[in-house]
Amino acid sequence: MTTKRILTGIRPTGPLHLGHYVGALKQWIELQDEYECFFLIADMQALTTHVDQPQLIEEAVRDVMLDWISVGLDPKRANVYFVLQSAILELTELTAYLSMLMPFTRLGHNPTIRAEAKRLEDDGKSVSAGFKIYPVSQAADILLFTPYPRGEGDELLVPVGEDQIPHLDDTNYLAEKFNKLYGDTLLACTPKVGNVGRLPGIDENPEKKENSGEEDSAEEGKKTKKMSKSAGNALFLKDDPARVRKLVAKMFTDKDKIYKGDPGHPDKCPVYMYHYAFNDDLASLRIRDLHCKIGTLGCVECKRDLAELLNNFLNPFRARRAQAEVEAPLGEYLARGTEKAREIGQKTMTAVRTAMHLDYPTVFNR
Ligand code: TRP
Repeated sequence: MTTKRILTGIRPTGPLHLGHYVGALKQWIELQDEYECFFLIADMQALTTHVDQPQLIEEAVRDVMLDWISVGLDPKRANVYFVLQSAILELTELTAYLSMLMPFTRLGHNPTIRAEAKRLEDDGKSVSAGFKIYPVSQAADILLFTPYPRGEGDELLVPVGEDQIPHLDDTNYLAEKFNKLYGDTLLACTPKVGNVGRLPGIDENPEKKENSGEEDSAEEGKKTKKMSKSAGNALFLKDDPARVRKLVAKMFTDKDKIYKGDPGHPDKCPVYMYHYAFNDDLASLRIRDLHCKIGTLGCVECKRDLAELLNNFLNPFRARRAQAEVEAPLGEYLARGTEKAREIGQKTMTAVRTAMHLDYPTVFNR
C-alpha cells in the first residue's frame, strides 16, 4: 500500500494574515484533494516565544482553526485532520530521542533560528533552551507521521513557506542519521514551497531598503520586510473591508512616481506585487502595468482597485468564518485529529523504540 500524507503546521500566536495565505495555506487547500492531511496547531512551539502568554495562545488556537476553515481547509472530510501538538505525547518522546542526534552546533547554523533569536533578543526577551531546539521538535512533528507499515512510493509531503526550509533540512538530516544508526525507520520528508513564497509587509518602503529589523534571512541581500503580525504590517484574513481599505490606502508605491502622469515602475512597487499575487487575470494585470508605466493610472486609484480586489478575495472567507464561529464543533475536530495522530504516533514510536533497543522487556527475550 502506498501512503500519500501531508504534515504541516502553524504556530498559534495570533490570527493568520495574507502572508500565511500566499506562503502556505493556498497550496494546502489544493492538496486536500490528493493527500491524507494532518494540519498541526503547534502550540508547544508557540511557547518558545510566548511562554508568558498562555491566554494569547489559547485564543490563537481558536483563531487559527477558524482561519483555516475560512480559507477552505475542511476537517469534515474523512482525510483531513486538525491536530493539537501539545496533546500528542509521542511528539515529546520523539523530540527527546532526536535531540540526542542533533549536534548543538548545527542548531546555531539554522538561518531562520538565527533571525528569530535576534528578534527575541532585540525585544529584550531571553532565548530559551526550548526555543533553541525547536527545529528538533519540528522534525519530530514531521517524522512521527512516517507511514506504518511502510510501502513502496510512500510520501510525506510538507508544504510550507520558504522560511521553513532550514527546518526541513534539519528534519531530513535527523531522519538520515537515525536510519543510518538504527536501520531504516523514519521516512525523509519532501518539502514543497508555493510559487509566490512571500508577500512584503504593507509598510514596505521601496525607498528605504534597509528599513528592516526583520530582513529575510533565507535570502540574504534581498531586504524585503516580510508580512508578520509582530512587525505590525499585516492584513489579517479576518479583517473587515474598512480596515483593508484604510491600510491599503497607506501603502507605499513606486518612489519615482510622484504625480499620476509620471511613468511608474510596477516591478518596484509593493502595491503591484499585491495585484500580482491576488489577481489571476493576467490580461488585466498587463493593462494595469501599461497604464502605470505611461502615466494614465495614478497610485491612489491603483490602491483603491487593490482594496477592492482584496475585499472581493476575502469575502468568501469572511462568510465561511462567520458561519464556523456559530456552528463549527472546534473541540470535536481537535479531538478527532488528535486521536488519529496518536494512533499513527504510537506505531512510529514502537518502531523507533525497537530500532533504538529501548523496547524493554522485549530486549531481554531476544
Ligand atoms: N514552524 C512552523 C511555524 O512557525 C510551525 C510548525 C511546527 C510546522 N511544526 C511544523 C510547520 C511541522 C511544518 C511542519 O509556523
